[in-house]
Amino acid sequence: MNVGVVGLGFVGLSVSCVFADKGINVHGVDIDEQKLSMINEKKSPFYEPQINQILDKVLNKSLYVNSNLEECVKNSEIVFVCVGTPSNSDGSSNLDYLKKTCKEISEFLNKIHDEKFRIIVIKSTVPPQTIESEIIPLMEKKSSNLMGTKLDICSNPEFLKEGSAIEDMSNPHLVIIGTNNEKTKKKMNHFYSKLYSNSINIMNTTIVNSELIKYTNNSFLATKISFINNIANICNKIPGADVEIIAEAIGMDPRIGKMFLKAGPGYGGSCFPKDVAGFLNFVKLRGYSMPILESTHNINEKQPFEIIKMIKNKLGDIENKTISILGLSFKKNTDDIREAVSIKIVKSLLEQNAKIKVNDPMAMDNFRKIFGEQIEYSDSIESCLSNSECCVILTEWDDFRKIQPKKFLEFMKKPIIIDARRVFDINKFKDLVDITALGHGQ
Ligand code: UDX
Repeated sequence: MNVGVVGLGFVGLSVSCVFADKGINVHGVDIDEQKLSMINEKKSPFYEPQINQILDKVLNKSLYVNSNLEECVKNSEIVFVCVGTPSNSDGSSNLDYLKKTCKEISEFLNKIHDEKFRIIVIKSTVPPQTIESEIIPLMEKKSSNLMGTKLDICSNPEFLKEGSAIEDMSNPHLVIIGTNNEKTKKKMNHFYSKLYSNSINIMNTTIVNSELIKYTNNSFLATKISFINNIANICNKIPGADVEIIAEAIGMDPRIGKMFLKAGPGYGGSCFPKDVAGFLNFVKLRGYSMPILESTHNINEKQPFEIIKMIKNKLGDIENKTISILGLSFKKNTDDIREAVSIKIVKSLLEQNAKIKVNDPMAMDNFRKIFGEQIEYSDSIESCLSNSECCVILTEWDDFRKIQPKKFLEFMKKPIIIDARRVFDINKFKDLVDITALGHGQ
């Protein structure tokens, strides 16, 4: 089977690699020539575990990438659209790339005179009703009534996570197929059952439910995080309280579940902040309200400042004090700093004239693009700690978890540690260094 993937960003390239690795012929398309030349050299434009190994295996065998959308549409039975739908300043989703792509696909379809029935699958996250009220009419208009007979649009949101994209895509907990057309439903079910040898859960639903599932899913997970962060901030104030113990216990209740209960400096990344803002905007425009999600958003906006409070509680005035930040990416195993809490925290500390040193295994180049020479980039954990008066852990990289108290004592001017990700065993650390851990009341 030949499929197309349009947009080779994080989702598109991960999807392309897994499809190609499972024997599907994939034609990937992107407009960014720099990105294409990197992929054609078997190098992923972003860091993601396993992706380069798969590229090495599949490129120019079952995966071909270039900028030729027309050829991609012509040769494919299913075209997965994975272009970005970033946030506008009011939180609404910017659908420009998606509309442009769908318009172009329709124009190319007009020129093709074969008998194929093609399905355009929208993987990009969109507000509910977008596909039926905007995308389908746009494609119908441009492709002179091919819709339903030779063309259909389907919603198939993606749930993969950065840092474990290949694993998530290879073993998805669920595949949602949102379509109102029987033929499309049959074809898409056949595609995914063959791809995963029937071993996965497929849910068939309507287009609008599929769109809503993606927003609701991400909103619920973000709410779980804000909820536990709220509890962590309360625990900070209660001597002897520990959010980790509380999260472990409530997570054992099968009605709650243990995942996404890790307190931290706030969620970031390319999805949660954007999708929460997008859902809130969608709800507001329709005259409804969702106070619970507003709180999720507000708690997350304030959470980085809880970490700054923890720093100032220990250091007092931070002017001219040297602070080391370990971890810049929005989570471990990625070089992505989109909406990363580290950006907000470093900006605020710089405004208060602190001196900042940073270290991250993967994200330093991206951070340099924002902060340039305003901060010091350390190649090693040791040099980042050297002469520092406070060390803040912002990302839970495994390398940071392995640091022993003696390293802080050896390299820092004063061994003050703010563990905003709970990577250290507080009982082991507390008698040796001055440690404040998020959600651990002292
Ligand atoms: C998320 C969704 O999980 C995924 O299904 C969707 O397709 C895209 O958005 P991603 O943004 O890659 O994936 O990462 P995720 O692991 O969900 O983490 C998002 C943010 O929440 C990170 O900043 C992470 O550090 C934070 N987080 C996550 C917590 O603070 N605590 C947790 O318990 C879990």
